[in-house]
Amino acid sequence: MDLSTTYLGLKLKNPIVPSSSPLTRDLGLMKRLEDAGAAAVVLYSLFEEEINRESHMLDRYLTEHTESYAEALSYFTEAPRYHAVGADMYLNHLRKAKESLSIPVIASLNGVSKGGWLRYAKEMEQAGADALELNVYYVPTSLEISAAEVEQIYVDVLTEVKAAVNIPIAMKLSPYFSATGSHGQGADRCGSGWSGAVQPVLPT
Ligand SMILES: Cc1cc2nc3c(=O)[nH]c(=O)nc-3n(C[C@H](O)[C@H](O)[C@H](O)COP(=O)(O)O)c2cc1C
Repeated sequence: MDLSTTYLGLKLKNPIVPSSSPLTRDLGLMKRLEDAGAAAVVLYSLFEEEINRESHMLDRYLTEHTESYAEALSYFTEAPRYHAVGADMYLNHLRKAKESLSIPVIASLNGVSKGGWLRYAKEMEQAGADALELNVYYVPTSLEISAAEVEQIYVDVLTEVKAAVNIPIAMKLSPYFSATGSHGQGADRCGSGWSGAVQPVLPT
């Protein structure tokens, strides 16, 4: 039976695509998913927040005693050299996945800052990702921000990332939006695909 389909403009041999999870942290497991018939894989997410935290911790450990002894002043190079350790690991993993698999590899990004979304999206594209999944998860902590404003943040992220890269983009949505269908249509107007726990059928 021909189960071929398209997703984000990618031709898939069937509609089975393992979602972003620890299964795609390991090359061997990804190969097994491909051998078992997966038509594409979504890598686990690169979390900008995690990279920032790692970077700050590394910076702290490398520099907190730097001034304790005069001779220690030049022990370590500047912290920015270490800034993207987590990102480099992710991008290397992505490159290796592209080398070893013949199915499309979709990278997944959870950004925080506008600079982070754009920088890592571009780097994932350069590392060979066939498409990009935006794992946006914004928790509003302000009492002043409205639901519409929260949803607008998602659309803004999508619009900006879409302008920055040339690969297809899927936006992974949480099922907890008040009006998921309408929000999805906003994303759809920006030219994004759908992904995640909710796959609403949009009116034609
Ligand atoms: C252990 C675990 C890790 C996950 N890690 C990610 C992740 O890094 N990025 C992401 O977008 N989703 C992540 N997910 C969410 C899954 O991709 C998926 O959306 C979720 O499990 C809902 O799918 P289901 O309804 O088929 O279970 C993770 C889920 C699990 C269980």
